[in-house]
Amino acid sequence: MKKLITNGTIVTATDQYEADLLIENGIITAIGYQLNTPVDEVIDAKGAYIFPGGIDPHTHLDMPFGGTVTSDDFETGTIAAAYGGTTTIIDFCLTNKGEPLQTAIQTWHDKSKQKAVIDYGFHLMISEVNERVLQEIPQVIEDGITSFKVFMAYKNVFQADDETLFRTLVTAKEHGALVMVHAENGDVIDYLVKEALKNEQTDPIYHALTRPPEVEGEATSRAAHLTGLANSQLYVVHVSCAEAVEKIAAARQKGYQVWGETCPQYLVLDQSYLEKPNFEGAKYVWSPPLREKWNQDVLWNALKNGQLQTLGSDQCSFNFKGQKDLGREDFTKIPNGGPIIEDRFSLFFSEGVKKGRISLNQFVDIVSTRIAKLFGLFPQKGTIAVGSDADLVIFDPEKERIISADTHHMNVDYSAFEGMKITGEPISVLSRGEFVIRDKQFVGQPGAGQFLKRKRFRNTVTEVEGSVNMKN
Ligand code: URP
Ligand code: ZN
Ligand code: ZN
Repeated sequence: MKKLITNGTIVTATDQYEADLLIENGIITAIGYQLNTPVDEVIDAKGAYIFPGGIDPHTHLDMPFGGTVTSDDFETGTIAAAYGGTTTIIDFCLTNKGEPLQTAIQTWHDKSKQKAVIDYGFHLMISEVNERVLQEIPQVIEDGITSFKVFMAYKNVFQADDETLFRTLVTAKEHGALVMVHAENGDVIDYLVKEALKNEQTDPIYHALTRPPEVEGEATSRAAHLTGLANSQLYVVHVSCAEAVEKIAAARQKGYQVWGETCPQYLVLDQSYLEKPNFEGAKYVWSPPLREKWNQDVLWNALKNGQLQTLGSDQCSFNFKGQKDLGREDFTKIPNGGPIIEDRFSLFFSEGVKKGRISLNQFVDIVSTRIAKLFGLFPQKGTIAVGSDADLVIFDPEKERIISADTHHMNVDYSAFEGMKITGEPISVLSRGEFVIRDKQFVGQPGAGQFLKRKRFRNTVTEVEGSVNMKN
């Protein structure tokens, strides 16, 4: 099956040009001016940008958390992702202490295999490092799971101690994996939470007030120093505030291999949302929490100047009714997280490119290319090049619309961005050359998404950094 996309403007992390694009058997086989070749289908992309499919490096689908399970599974979550212009996700596979890693991985394969409509990979949570775990890790990496996640917060749930983090960094260095951290000081948060509850401070806003920026900055700094000591590599997820950005920038100045991700919610929402009446603030409970508004400029600047490198959604959806409201009497019982997978790409285009905060090429780099490079998917994914998978977004850059739970495709009863006007919308989305979204309609197949065996982390800074200077 051959497809030709004509009249569009191809945009990559480095280029923007008009050309035709030929797809054969799911792969881009030619890019050129007026390609004149017989095909089965011609797709007219006049007036549209053609982007490489978005890669979301941070999702929690069908995940037990906070006494409940996220409301989007691998079917609804990946359909929503595709509507939003994302063609690859990397989801977090949770592990339980004492349980073989392979058991956890099999659980995640069972959740995803028949359901995903786009390609996907897994990061593996590391909660303990012992002889059994060390024996299992080489096979895990061989099987294409080449990034590990360590939680420095959620005491008595997911939190690992510093020895575990350090040993994970050492092991990752040895085997070629990237270590990801949720950087908040869980012990200090636990103390602050107990104090708040003692004082009957139970409203959603106390979620933010018991997780101040200092606990994120401190944990980020600790993780970065341990990375330097291990001469390893670190990716800090969901960076929310200036304190954390500063620590990442300082580590990079020292030459440490540290990268940072932020998320749309931290770029456009702020701490005041947690004070919404009638318990609505619960919709905006994330960890780390939303910050004072001035942090938004710090995050945008960090993306622009390369101090932060990627945008994840941290998709972790819970319905307001029946899930978020578990915490009506006590903010610690509000499940942490929100629905973002569908909005990440377009919202970032609208707020970033359209508002002049980042360039079009930076947009592609931050939502796709750099993620592919960091997580062992480039150049199969994350770019438009001959030989790459035909994961493509045909995008109308002028279309105006309003984000709403009434029109989104996530399996959740609210939108964190309800009523927000944005510009730009995916029209059609292809995964390995097949339409998943065609003229804004879902035409994909549950189970069509393939598990991605990712390459090992490569210790070549230039490959990941491209032309951007590491020391910024
Ligand atoms: O509040 C959040 N971020 N929920 C998802 C789990 C995590 O910590 O990433
Ligand atoms: Zn986290
Ligand atoms: Zn997360």
